[in-house]
Amino acid sequence: MSETMPQSTSEPLLRIRGLSKHYGAVQALRGVDLDIMPGETVALVGDNGAGKSTLVKLISGAIQPSGGEMAFAGRPVRFASTDAARALGIETVYQDLGLCNNLSVAENIFLGREQTVGGGPFRFLAKRRMHRRAKEALHGLTINVPSTKAKVLGLSGGQRQAVSLARTKLWSSSLVLLDEPTAALGVQETERAMEAVRSLQAAGVAIVLITHQMPMALAMSDRAIVLRRGEKVGDLSTRTATGDDLVSLITGARERHIEAA
Ligand SMILES: Nc1ncnc2c1ncn2[C@@H]1O[C@H](COP(=O)(O)OP(=O)(O)OP(=O)(O)O)[C@@H](O)[C@H]1O
Ligand SMILES: [Mg+2]
Repeated sequence: MSETMPQSTSEPLLRIRGLSKHYGAVQALRGVDLDIMPGETVALVGDNGAGKSTLVKLISGAIQPSGGEMAFAGRPVRFASTDAARALGIETVYQDLGLCNNLSVAENIFLGREQTVGGGPFRFLAKRRMHRRAKEALHGLTINVPSTKAKVLGLSGGQRQAVSLARTKLWSSSLVLLDEPTAALGVQETERAMEAVRSLQAAGVAIVLITHQMPMALAMSDRAIVLRRGEKVGDLSTRTATGDDLVSLITGARERHIEAA
C-alpha cells in the first residue's frame, strides 16, 4: 500500500485495547482488542462464563478493568461509574433490564436524570414534562405500555423491554449495550424487541448485542465477536459467517478466526 493512500475517515466510536478483568484468581477477561464503528451492530457470543457480561460491564462503567485501555470517539476514557459512561451516550440494557420495580414507567425512563423546575429550595420535579417526554419516547416502539404512570412491577417482559429501549432512545445514546435483552421473552415479544433494536439501528446507534441464539446474532448484526474463557477468539463478518462457524469457535472445535477489519 502506498504511503499517500488516504486513511480511513471513519474513526471507531469505541476502541478497546488489551482489556482485562480478574476477580481474585478468576480471569474473566484477558487482553481483548475490539473496535466498534459508529452505527455498527456487533453480536457478542460465547458460552456461559465466557466473559460477555464482564466486557459489557467494563464498557458501561459498571465495573473497572484490571488492565487495558478504552477510547470513546477518539478520546481515552476511564469510566468510574455507569453515570460517567451514560453522560457520553453509552446506555446499557441489562440481562434483568435494570428497571426499578417500585417506580413508574416514566420514573424508570428518567432514573438519574429527573427533570426539575425552579431553583434552590423551590426545585420541583417536572412531573408533567417527564410523563409527556416518556410517552413520546415510547411512541414508535411497537410494544404497548398502558401508561407512563404504571408501576414497572406489573409489566410483561416485552413491556419492560420497551421501557428500557425508550430510555436509550430518549437520551440519544450513540452506543447501546444489550445483555441478552430477549432471554426472558416469549416468541412474539422477542420479535417486537428485535423491531425496537432495528429502530435503534435505523437511528444510527451502535449496538453491542449479547445473545445465546446464533440465528439472532447472525440476523441482527454486522459482525460477530466470539469470546472463549475470557479471550476473543472470533471476529467475523456476519455477511459470510454461518451458525456452525460461531458454534465451533464458541466450543473450541476451531481455535481462532479473526478477520481483518
Ligand atoms: N462479581 C464476580 N465475582 C467473581 N467472579 C465473577 C464475577 N462476575 C463474573 N465472574 C466470573 O467471570 C467469568 C465471566 O463471567 P461473565 O458473567 O462475564 O460471563 P458471561 O459470558 O456473561 O456468561 P453468561 O452467558 O452465563 O451470562 C465467569 O467465570 C464468572 O464466574
Ligand atoms: Mg452474562
